[in-house]
Amino acid sequence: MKKVGIIGCGSIAQVHAWTLGNMEDVEICALCDVDVSRARNIADKYLNEKNRGSIHSEKYTDDKEVDGVFEDKREKESLIYTNWHDLLDIDIDAVHICTPHYLHAPMAVEFIKRGKAVFCEKPCAISLEQFDELKNADLKHPGLLGYCFQNRYNETTLLMDKLIAEGRIGEVTGVRAFVTWRRDRSYYEGSPWKGRFETEGGGALINQSIHTLDLMLRYLGEPEQVKASISNHHLPSIEVEDTVEAWMMFEGGRRGCFYASNGYVTDAPVIIDIQGETGRISLNGRKVSLYAEGKDPEHFLCERQQGIGKDYWGCGHKACIRDFYKCLESGERFQNDLGGATNTFNTMMKIYEDSQAEHILTSGGGASYIRVGDMVICSNHMS
Ligand SMILES: NC(=O)c1ccc[n+]([C@@H]2O[C@H](COP(=O)([O-])OP(=O)(O)OC[C@H]3O[C@@H](n4cnc5c(N)ncnc54)[C@H](O)[C@@H]3O)[C@@H](O)[C@H]2O)c1
Repeated sequence: MKKVGIIGCGSIAQVHAWTLGNMEDVEICALCDVDVSRARNIADKYLNEKNRGSIHSEKYTDDKEVDGVFEDKREKESLIYTNWHDLLDIDIDAVHICTPHYLHAPMAVEFIKRGKAVFCEKPCAISLEQFDELKNADLKHPGLLGYCFQNRYNETTLLMDKLIAEGRIGEVTGVRAFVTWRRDRSYYEGSPWKGRFETEGGGALINQSIHTLDLMLRYLGEPEQVKASISNHHLPSIEVEDTVEAWMMFEGGRRGCFYASNGYVTDAPVIIDIQGETGRISLNGRKVSLYAEGKDPEHFLCERQQGIGKDYWGCGHKACIRDFYKCLESGERFQNDLGGATNTFNTMMKIYEDSQAEHILTSGGGASYIRVGDMVICSNHMS
């Protein structure tokens, strides 16, 4: 039985709590959020006698009722923390990090140093410096760190892998991908760490479309060349990009074209086209189509896997989290370990690097903002 804690009890933590709460071999022993009401909300919604762990708490006695508070309520309360450092010293085997981006790497480093497993939401880090610290810690404490690239576990992804492995389109020569979603002012107001370089590290790329970039790279490998631009078309109140495009060149002349924007009217299904020497595989949401040369097209509609959360997040969380714990138990390598997340992180950083200083991020009220290195510069001279 693994004793697990969740840090950051906002939107995505619900999916983690639901998944963990339904696993036989896991107990949830700690819920941590700086906003205590969020941790309580998760406790109330997802914890029950079967999945609630039993870390001894000094806070409550064994009496049935204390100060008018009943035992069940007290047990839930005893799992709640507001300072993540407190989780370093309690008897848990693993933590799930579901916090703002800038906290992922520093938190992960501290937990793996204590020998605790870490399942962390994307991204791994928001800077090269943070990533280096992670790499050093991971080298010293291997096999503890895993990342939530759940779309690698989608049925659509597994089907595309299979069609390619069967040679149905020949060698892959290129991939193009489109993510067009909608993030308005209310989204950023609901989580003030979003929309700021310091805490989110970027926008449409690092947050919304990183999963799609990850899938593109699954079929293309490491890019040899990256040309990219970022811009902010529709929300002057945020610092980060709402739109990103990238052109990538890979070994053997293979190419990738990538476009993502948070400025659309709805969260439209992700589109990925994998071009092969003898055909094409096309993903549109949950539909995969195979266009093999000289054959009639074949269409496959993949079922939505059981789970909670938004459709456009994909529904691989359950399979991904279960695989992480299976690998911890067996000692097998988890495909989403730091090594497995490195190409996506590096490529994302190359896209930002190539975009820097050339592009206006925001303009409004007569001012424009560009990103140079780690800084956002305000210029009144740009149009
Ligand atoms: N894999 C996916 O499909 C997916 C989907 C959505 C979000 N995410 C990722 O999940 C993470 C969280 O995103 P979200 O949308 O749930 O954000 P959110 O703002 O809803 O939740 C973040 C929570 O962290 C808490 N928090 C902030 N600082 C903290 C600290 N020092 N200690 C403890 N808690 C702290 C906040 O109070 C908040 O409740 C991000 O990394 C995001 O990119 C992943």
